[in-house]
Amino acid sequence: MRVLFVGDIVGAPGRLIVHDRLADVVSQRQIDLVIANGENAASGFGITPRLAQELLNLGIHVITGGNHSWDRKEVLEYLPHEPRLLRPANFPEGNPGSGMYTGTAKNGMKYAVLNLQGRVFMTQIDDPFHKADSELEKITTDVAFVLVDMHAEATSEKVAMGWYLDGRVTAVVGTHTHVATADERVLPQGTAYITDVGMTGPHRGVIGMDREGIIKKFLNGLPARFDVASGDVQMNCVLVETDDDGPPNAAGRLRARAIERLRFSID
Ligand code: FE2
Repeated sequence: MRVLFVGDIVGAPGRLIVHDRLADVVSQRQIDLVIANGENAASGFGITPRLAQELLNLGIHVITGGNHSWDRKEVLEYLPHEPRLLRPANFPEGNPGSGMYTGTAKNGMKYAVLNLQGRVFMTQIDDPFHKADSELEKITTDVAFVLVDMHAEATSEKVAMGWYLDGRVTAVVGTHTHVATADERVLPQGTAYITDVGMTGPHRGVIGMDREGIIKKFLNGLPARFDVASGDVQMNCVLVETDDDGPPNAAGRLRARAIERLRFSID
């Protein structure tokens, strides 16, 4: 099984490169399942029902979220109606939407996607580690592939989550910093891991936003509004390949055979 995870899609440029490149990548690399983080799809802040639908129509099967999941108020009503649009599972009980989705991939295998958010340098929500335990317990034994999107600021918290879930899920991928890390590997118990997948959006700014505005804020410390940057638009992804014939991991899920970083650009 081959699963593509597309890093944080930022604004119109991010959506545009997905529109331009995703279908080709899926057919050339024989991808069975596409998951993407979409919490910055609406001008960098949140996602609207229309944009979620647009991304799903482009061939993304599950959209994960993060701290920006709640930015657009129209999405709060939409979340309970679109189970393929996730928000982090470890927000307080009673918040709209869900942090986990279970479906069937193109190759007929059942999969689950779990979305978590870190707490280091971020809002103090529920503990993502214990939440991972309780959510993973809910996944039925017929689910072969499990991916966790750990949306977090601190590399340490993401690395820790990778080790914590090694041997229990097929992949743990980090999102949120918008800067890809070069530490992709398969951990000893068969879990594919990367600290951050990087961003799908313009790289001639500061993590997707217009650099002048961000630099100005660093200089004067005043509140400011930021616009999406332009130029050097990249789609940063990882491709996780599973070992379908080998022994399952300790939880009975597929082990990863490989994780590969992929970068596509338009100028
Ligand atoms: Fe984020």
